[in-house]
Amino acid sequence: MHPKERVAILTGGAAGIGKACAVRFAQEGFRLVLGDVSGQDGEQTLATLHEIGADAVFEQGSIADEAFCSRLAELALERWGRIDALVANAAHRDFTRLVDAGSAEWDPMLAVNLKGTAFSCKAVVPTMARQGSGSIVLLSSVHWQVGRKEMPIYDVTKAGIVSMAKSLAVDHAPDGIRVNAVCPGLTITDYHVRKAIREGRSVEELKRTQIGLLGRPAAPAEIAAAVWFLASDEASFITGQALMVDGGLSVGH
Ligand SMILES: NC(=O)c1ccc[n+]([C@@H]2O[C@H](COP(=O)([O-])OP(=O)(O)OC[C@H]3O[C@@H](n4cnc5c(N)ncnc54)[C@H](O)[C@@H]3O)[C@@H](O)[C@H]2O)c1
Repeated sequence: MHPKERVAILTGGAAGIGKACAVRFAQEGFRLVLGDVSGQDGEQTLATLHEIGADAVFEQGSIADEAFCSRLAELALERWGRIDALVANAAHRDFTRLVDAGSAEWDPMLAVNLKGTAFSCKAVVPTMARQGSGSIVLLSSVHWQVGRKEMPIYDVTKAGIVSMAKSLAVDHAPDGIRVNAVCPGLTITDYHVRKAIREGRSVEELKRTQIGLLGRPAAPAEIAAAVWFLASDEASFITGQALMVDGGLSVGH
């Protein structure tokens, strides 16, 4: 099938890596449903997509709400009658130490990163199975595997997402559905820029962060390139994998 007839759903598609994915998929000719909790960012990203000639719609809501995930799938079906790719990218962050985290920290973390990611997949699998084809890309993190101090309960969910990719790949290979995870290293998004400024660091300093074998953080478009590859037919023999897109961080320093 020609890419221009294909349809993708992107969660957390309004900013950061999700926005870079939306732009890349649009450039490749996909029609897009974006879902994001931020209405303002969502409308801005939608305007950017329309400027580059993309056929795209935006729906505001949280993936923690199963009905919202179903709505994204319904929108794609009502408008274009198919779903070829899901990029399950939306995530919640938390910096609490594991021994300090209580239900107030764990509940939204599990609700968004694990249950919300699972609901996003649940909403598209029946359509993909009916089509006999589809590709799901879940956003994990290099820190599902490489331990660190900053975000332990978030990192637990990112390990769960790799497990989810493998389970879904096993269950739905007979339906013609491939499922993979992309595991980014530090990627500078607007969120990180705002955080650095709050902490009194400059953007240039942030971009010079020495990390991984390549000695620098990623740009969102570099992660989007890997997501695009796994979603596309170029990756037709790849399923159940966790692709490290981390500048070599998981290999050495
Ligand atoms: N940026 C990095 O350094 C990095 C590294 C490893 C993994 N990741 C992963 O990549 C993905 C994207 O990260 P990012 O840095 O671009 O984040 P970001 O904060 O820049 O963007 C995330 C987007 O998701 C939306 N979102 C948050 N919670 C949501 C919810 N419950 N429902 C719907 N939308 C929601 C936000 O509004 C935002 O638009 C995440 O899964 C993240 O865990 C990022």
